[in-house]
Amino acid sequence: MKKTIGLFTAGALVLALSACGGGAPAASGSGGGAKALDQLVVGFAQVGAESGWRTANTKDIQAAFKDANIKLQFSDAQQKQENQIKAIRSYIQQKVDYIAFSPVVQTGWDAVLNEAKAASIPVILTDRAVDSKDTSLYKTFLGSDFVAEGKKAGDWLVADSKAASGPVNVIQLEGTTGSAPAIDRAKGFADAIAANPKIKVVASQTGDFTRAGGKQVAEALLKSHPEATVIFAQNDDMGLGAIESIEAAGKVPGKDIKIITVDAVHDGMQALADGKINYIVECSPLLGKQLIDIVKKLNAGETVPARIVTEEGTFTQEQAKAALPDRKY
Ligand code: AHR
Repeated sequence: MKKTIGLFTAGALVLALSACGGGAPAASGSGGGAKALDQLVVGFAQVGAESGWRTANTKDIQAAFKDANIKLQFSDAQQKQENQIKAIRSYIQQKVDYIAFSPVVQTGWDAVLNEAKAASIPVILTDRAVDSKDTSLYKTFLGSDFVAEGKKAGDWLVADSKAASGPVNVIQLEGTTGSAPAIDRAKGFADAIAANPKIKVVASQTGDFTRAGGKQVAEALLKSHPEATVIFAQNDDMGLGAIESIEAAGKVPGKDIKIITVDAVHDGMQALADGKINYIVECSPLLGKQLIDIVKKLNAGETVPARIVTEEGTFTQEQAKAALPDRKY
């Protein structure tokens, strides 16, 4: 990663057509008349509170709605799709003006999204995509390019492994099964490491994006795969859990077992600065202001881009030391 950290302002956006995440709808406006902002109600169905990233995302969204003086109805699905569907149905019944949500998994949304469409309530996807073929079911998808994140992680390992004389065996800690970031990061990582036949994923299992899950799965996989020298954890929390397992096994994280993670939340950055993680690919949770911009534009009858991709960087150990004092989450 050649960009310096200084180039990244939190929440900076590039607008682009989607290359991933279930396709892109045509750009479109809300079709409704403009309402005073303090009269608007937005229902937001959050995934849960599984990670430091999610906590930061929730705080940022709640703060952005408060600042904009737009009413937010917020629900936490505890990582269960049925809870998110219930929350969305309740927002439809309440006749909110907009529904935003971060889908826990990619599939199974068409029925409830058609209900929102029939009720003329525009839907905004944040953070994660759905794989629905009917892209008219949502107005836009705001969030990261998860394939690119996985690729950045794999590119670092390819560069780091150039001098390796023997095989480089990797344990992958996957995120929530069926979720867009788990699917896309695995793909990006696999594509990147294909450039080096010495690198092989010897085991890959879900830790559900949680610290406890990462700890438990890392402990089991390190035992069954003593040949592994690298862990690619698809988020910081699972990487932090893996550190605990590595240390409990009497090994040194960052040295005996190299660790690559995704997110760059405060605890992950601290572990990177401390030398326990080797590289972090950033995934920004600061989506609140962009979400408000979308709501305002749709409310004014303006068009919004079909896909809004969050711009993100990467961090080495030295870069983490420099960035930590100003890290907001
Ligand atoms: O969808 C974003 C992912 O979800 C984050 O990388 C992870 O930490 C979170 O749980």
